[in-house]
Amino acid sequence: MLPQSTFLWFLTVLQLLFPISSLDFIFNTNFNSTNLQRYGSARIENSILSLTNDTTFSIGRAFYPSKIPTKRPNSSTPLPFSTSFIFSIAPYRHRLPGHGFAFVFLPFAGIAGASSSQHLGLFNLTNDGDPNNHIFGVEFDVFKNQEFNDISDNHVGIDVYSLTSIASNVAGVWTGKDDEKFKELKLNNGENYQVWIDYKDSRINVTMVKAGAKRPNRPLISEFLNLSGVLLDEMYVGFCAATGQLVESHKILAWSFSNSNFSIGEALVTTNLPSFVLPKGSVFQSKGFIAGVSVGCVLIIGCGVVIYLIWLRKKRKKRKEKEETEDWELEYWPHRIGFQEIYAATKGFSEENVIGFGGNGKVYKGHLLGVEIALKRICLDNENGMREFLAEVSSLGRLKHRNLVGLRGWGKKEKESLILIYDYMENGSLDKWIFERDESMTLNWEQRIKILKDAACGILYLHEGWESKVLHRDIKASNVLLDKDMNARLGDFGLARMHHRGQLAVTTQVIGTAGYMAPELVKTGRASTQTDIFSFGILVLEVVCGRRPIEEGKPNLVDWLWRLMERGELLSALDERLKAKDSYTDEEVERALHLGLLCAHPDTNVRPTIRQVVKVFEGPSEGTEPEEEGMHVNLRETLATTAMRSNWNFGGNGRYPTFDAIHKNSSSPSLTTSDIIVEGR
Ligand SMILES: *[C@@H]1O[C@H](CO)[C@@H](O)[C@H](O)[C@H]1NC(C)=O
Ligand SMILES: *[C@@H]1O[C@H](CO)[C@@H](O)[C@H](O)[C@H]1NC(C)=O
Ligand SMILES: *[C@@H]1O[C@H](CO)[C@@H](O)[C@H](O)[C@H]1NC(C)=O
Ligand SMILES: *[C@@H]1O[C@H](CO)[C@@H](O)[C@H](O)[C@H]1NC(C)=O
Ligand SMILES: *[C@@H]1O[C@H](CO)[C@@H](O)[C@H](O)[C@H]1NC(C)=O
Ligand SMILES: *[C@@H]1O[C@H](CO)[C@@H](O)[C@H](O)[C@H]1NC(C)=O
Ligand SMILES: *[C@@H]1O[C@H](CO)[C@@H](O)[C@H](O)[C@H]1NC(C)=O
Repeated sequence: MLPQSTFLWFLTVLQLLFPISSLDFIFNTNFNSTNLQRYGSARIENSILSLTNDTTFSIGRAFYPSKIPTKRPNSSTPLPFSTSFIFSIAPYRHRLPGHGFAFVFLPFAGIAGASSSQHLGLFNLTNDGDPNNHIFGVEFDVFKNQEFNDISDNHVGIDVYSLTSIASNVAGVWTGKDDEKFKELKLNNGENYQVWIDYKDSRINVTMVKAGAKRPNRPLISEFLNLSGVLLDEMYVGFCAATGQLVESHKILAWSFSNSNFSIGEALVTTNLPSFVLPKGSVFQSKGFIAGVSVGCVLIIGCGVVIYLIWLRKKRKKRKEKEETEDWELEYWPHRIGFQEIYAATKGFSEENVIGFGGNGKVYKGHLLGVEIALKRICLDNENGMREFLAEVSSLGRLKHRNLVGLRGWGKKEKESLILIYDYMENGSLDKWIFERDESMTLNWEQRIKILKDAACGILYLHEGWESKVLHRDIKASNVLLDKDMNARLGDFGLARMHHRGQLAVTTQVIGTAGYMAPELVKTGRASTQTDIFSFGILVLEVVCGRRPIEEGKPNLVDWLWRLMERGELLSALDERLKAKDSYTDEEVERALHLGLLCAHPDTNVRPTIRQVVKVFEGPSEGTEPEEEGMHVNLRETLATTAMRSNWNFGGNGRYPTFDAIHKNSSSPSLTTSDIIVEGR
């Protein structure tokens, strides 16, 4: 009796200490056909597991011969585990290396339902991201796939249901006294690396180091992760790897696993291992080859491979582009230009081709069909934005006038990036000429007046010369561009609605540039021809005075001019750089300033129409209707009377929008102070 009960008690204690589900195994370069199940291209060569060789588009998988329990009996709590393995990924001579391997828990053996290349033999197109696939893996990936948000072409990631890793890091090791120095380790240089993957208390740690080196204290990845819903009660555990157009060998030299012994990794033998590093001196080992094949290829025998790859990519791109075209786009087809052409025209959107930054994107210079062009790249939030945008663009494309920058066409990349192609303007934007040049280089009086007149003609065409009224919405010095003969042309017309990442303007949203926005626009958000006139008025004033509408530490340009006018000192506002030269008359300066102030008047009824403005610039001529001539002569009187009528309140309570007013009334979150500093010119 007694011995029997003692025995039972002993059994129970044993069971508690070593749960029946616990499993340990250690393979030290002794893989054979009985201790490993292999599928696809996986082979055992010299007791080493070789998952893939140089066969393209192949998959190799290998598992512990039976399913292993991953949960405690009658519980959903996953068992802890600790596994360690030594791997080697080696490139082949004259071949580009790819794609990677993973340590995995899988519900099924075999390779059915797995895809090669970027899917690593782990997932396929349809089950990637599906929580019902019950797949968990740790990937060692040497290709940067944008579709999975890969961080680099040499990374380790934790994959739960999906190749889009929940956590990832560049492959490497933390070293130094306080583990503060990160050293990248190149996964596919043929070196043998030891990896530890530990899972306990809903936390997973992944650590790697060159085989033979001491295990670092700080894990490469440490992430909280509840595997309870992911793992089934029993799973296959092992490895999978894949090649695609790119090939490399994926080898596992040793492997240990335990549910209870977290020191099981120490059982791996790390000495006297075979080396798969390609012999020294091979160009294929050089950083240049691995980092930038496209750069190094010319010197290398593998040149042919690269050309083939480029050709393949082009073909794929072409196909992709074709697929991307949707029915509604055909309506706008005549203006569309292929993305490859655009890409080539800007040398791949290289930074050296950037000629400016607009509110809605970078502007590049390029060559298309032997003509110089300017390209604006705009990011849109969604497809609807794109569609409305194109409707707008297709009508803007029909606007042709010598004082508008010609829109040559458009292109797009995927669904979110739109590219507008404009004529190239040799002399850049007006603000550079007015605000950023010294005396000898700045524009003279005649040039300035001609530019203002050109701009006015451009606005007249937009407002009245077209079947429907087109509002510019963002008239300012940086949107007035100068062609090679110094003719001014308006750019970016009609686009302000798309400002700030393509958010379509809701009527209550304030869109425009601080300093150029009419008070009623700030209040109501409603743009009109009068708000365009207001902006134009500000443009006139800044061109004459050589001062931006809002400058730090100075009064608002308009307030300042009103005060000068009150004191009869309006002429002193003229740009200092012009005063030295004698090409202007006081009357002309005064007239221009009066016109600007009238256009920028807070009362919309006082502002002239653009037709009247153009008349003022043209000056009195034969056949002018008396009324319009009167307008020109009487600018001063008109101003004087309106100033009285509107009971203009100078100083801080002026009716011109202040930063605060703009902030308060703006529902557009992107119109921040920095926007104003950048654009408020
Ligand atoms: C395979 O290796 C295991 C050790 O992991 C050993 O016990 C077994 O005998 C080997 N089988 C063959 C066929 O070599
Ligand atoms: C590569 O593996 C395939 C099996 O996937 C095999 O048929 C082929 O012979 C192997 N090639 C070499 C060079 O070992
Ligand atoms: C688990 O549940 C089954 C019945 O569902 C029961 O027979 C078995 O004894 C339970 N095992 C443990 C360890 O509780
Ligand atoms: C993807 O894999 C799943 C199994 O995980 C399978 O049911 C499905 O048919 C596979 N799809 C393709 C396209 O191979
Ligand atoms: C993972 O690493 C963290 C920090 O180094 C450590 O606190 C934790 O115990 C580790 N967990 C496992 C399962 O190794
Ligand atoms: C893990 O998730 C399961 C449900 O999927 C939940 O029951 C369990 O409490 C979770 N465990 C932890 C430690 O959060
Ligand atoms: C855990 O594994 C290590 C390495 O094989 C071994 O030295 C140690 O004795 C094991 N610990 C237990 C409790 O089995």
